[in-house]
Amino acid sequence: MVITSAPGKLILLGEHAVVFGEPAIAVAIDLRLRCIASPSVEFTINGKVIDDAYRSYIQASMDKVWRGDPVSIRTFSDLHSGSGMGSSAAVSVATLAALMQLRGMFREPRIARLGFEVESEVQGRASPIDTSVSTHGQGIFVDSELGEDHLWSMTMDKRTWHIHHLRVPEMTIVVGYTGIHAPTGPLVDMVKDKVSENRWAREAIDRIGEISLEGMSALRNDDLSSLGELMNEDHSLLSKLGVSCPELDSLVKVARPLSYGAKLTGAGGGGSMIALTDDPDAVSEAIREKGGEPIIVHTGVQGVTVE
Ligand code: MEV
Repeated sequence: MVITSAPGKLILLGEHAVVFGEPAIAVAIDLRLRCIASPSVEFTINGKVIDDAYRSYIQASMDKVWRGDPVSIRTFSDLHSGSGMGSSAAVSVATLAALMQLRGMFREPRIARLGFEVESEVQGRASPIDTSVSTHGQGIFVDSELGEDHLWSMTMDKRTWHIHHLRVPEMTIVVGYTGIHAPTGPLVDMVKDKVSENRWAREAIDRIGEISLEGMSALRNDDLSSLGELMNEDHSLLSKLGVSCPELDSLVKVARPLSYGAKLTGAGGGGSMIALTDDPDAVSEAIREKGGEPIIVHTGVQGVTVE
């Protein structure tokens, strides 16, 4: 039997634009998904109970790496699925890691690569940001150019993403979950259509890429005020692209006066927003009063591990 776990993630800056090859920043958080893989008399996923949210990711992960005798897979998650906190990446990464460990083949770059393939197959268009940060942990900076602290690179459909290790300061982030399950694929497709039809949408994507680069400087200088302002601008651009919703906007609005900055995180359309703050309790209370579910998370966590 093998037990693995992989962390959830938050995108600080650059979601959606990263699908077009623009820079983006993501951090791993202290909410994890655990996977238990054990030899079995028949193939089972979560005791055969069909878990629609995870089943296809687990199945696709098994298809990538498992040719042997039957195995049973069980998952236990701290993460709401469709919440923007990387539950699908964590389930793919933890399952791949467990199966690869059973075969004595646990290697992070390979797990990240196959995780990206699984996400692309199940979700449609994707970038490697979610699966790479869940594999590596800590923080990552994704760029179309090769830089310092390079971890691995991935190419798909003529686009290359270089993934770099990012040192992140200890941060407390308040997540505000709207309770709205928002699948990523349709939102990514909607943005793609907007970008191919409108110049302003392409310009918004370009500006989001610049914001991520500016965010890297702010992080290097531990300048949370500048980082917060960049998060606010990023949220406005994502709203313009149509991936926010009234529930996200209202949680962002109440969190801002108590935070360095606040924005939606992940695909949007529901899911979650994040607020970077020194007063997590006050922000949590404000989010709860507006009907959101506050979750206080911390950065600086390990990536995929065998437990
Ligand atoms: C989802 O967490 C982030 C998106 O940029 C999609 C992706 O990068 O695969 C919206």
